[in-house]
Amino acid sequence: MKIAFVGKGGSGKTTLSSLFIRHLAARRVPVVAVDADINQHLGAALGLDEAEAAALPAMGAHLPLIKDYLRGSNPRIASAETMIKTTPPGRGSRLLRVVEDNPVYAACARTVPLDNGTSVRLMATGPFTESDLGVACYHSKVGAVELCLNHLVDGPGEYVVVDMTAGSDSFASGMFTRFDMTFLVAEPTRKGVSVYRQYKEYARDFGIRLRVVGNKVQGQDDVDFLREEAGDDLLTCFGHSDWVRAMEKGRPPLFDLLESANHEALGTLREAADAAYEGRDWHRYTRQMVHFHLKNAESWGNARTGADLAAQVDPSFVLGEPLPATPQPA
Ligand SMILES: Nc1ncnc2c1ncn2[C@@H]1O[C@H](COP(=O)(O)OP(=O)(O)O)[C@@H](O)[C@H]1O
Ligand SMILES: [Mg+2]
Repeated sequence: MKIAFVGKGGSGKTTLSSLFIRHLAARRVPVVAVDADINQHLGAALGLDEAEAAALPAMGAHLPLIKDYLRGSNPRIASAETMIKTTPPGRGSRLLRVVEDNPVYAACARTVPLDNGTSVRLMATGPFTESDLGVACYHSKVGAVELCLNHLVDGPGEYVVVDMTAGSDSFASGMFTRFDMTFLVAEPTRKGVSVYRQYKEYARDFGIRLRVVGNKVQGQDDVDFLREEAGDDLLTCFGHSDWVRAMEKGRPPLFDLLESANHEALGTLREAADAAYEGRDWHRYTRQMVHFHLKNAESWGNARTGADLAAQVDPSFVLGEPLPATPQPA
């Protein structure tokens, strides 16, 4: 299951992503955590100290390796140089799985230990610069994440959780369509819900499952406000957490000690994420991938690479979980 946390800066994306990741890890299910936020803080929120967080490899710096690996022997992709962030997989491409060892994880992922002997794989885009925020950036750091998501074959009960910025980049490239569930973190303020309205607008045409998660909610009035603004899209709310505060002070408490109301809210998130599996449609997923690739090819990719990137689309390819082997008749 691919799950994104989006929202305004400071709303609590990183905090809630990290809590959700801990919640999943505590249930001993496989999780890959991806830090694609402008401010790279997911490692710290998962308990890495400054030096450890700074030593995380940057996916953005490994784009050539990622492209070369994913391209595999796909005859439609002549070289890694002509592979852009939206280039879809086709026959011959290498696909990624949540649980496996591959050169992409070897180069880009690090194992972060959590409570009780549990751990997660963490990947980070690397720090953003001004030029990363452009719409059509060839070397886009988030593009590394998008390529991985576009080549990922994940099933129920295994999770990729992405802490993500809700910026123009993800709308232009189609990154925002790559998730089974998008949690929009909103504080009970006008600014908090304005990002929700914008996202909803983009999401409408693409069948995106979007739920609002209130954060730093202090009372019924806050809940009522979010309910008025988001209606049934409001899934659940988190209150102020002393546990999070202690974490911020560099005194990480055991995850078990998180406030019980916040533990419950995490359970609600997981149930909503799991329920989204029913709505998964690999054909639509592949179609949207192709749609955004053609758009990006035309608007900048063809000019930038000097190739006809539309030819990269393998018309008969559908990304998807492998079918269970059919028993042979005796
Ligand atoms: N529920 C919460 N309780 C206490 N502090 C919180 C809570 N949610 C977020 N914070 C704090 O608010 C600040 C911004 O949160 P963060 O997760 O970094 O936001 P974002 O990733 O959306 O920019 C951080 O200092 C974080 O510790
Ligand atoms: Mg953040």
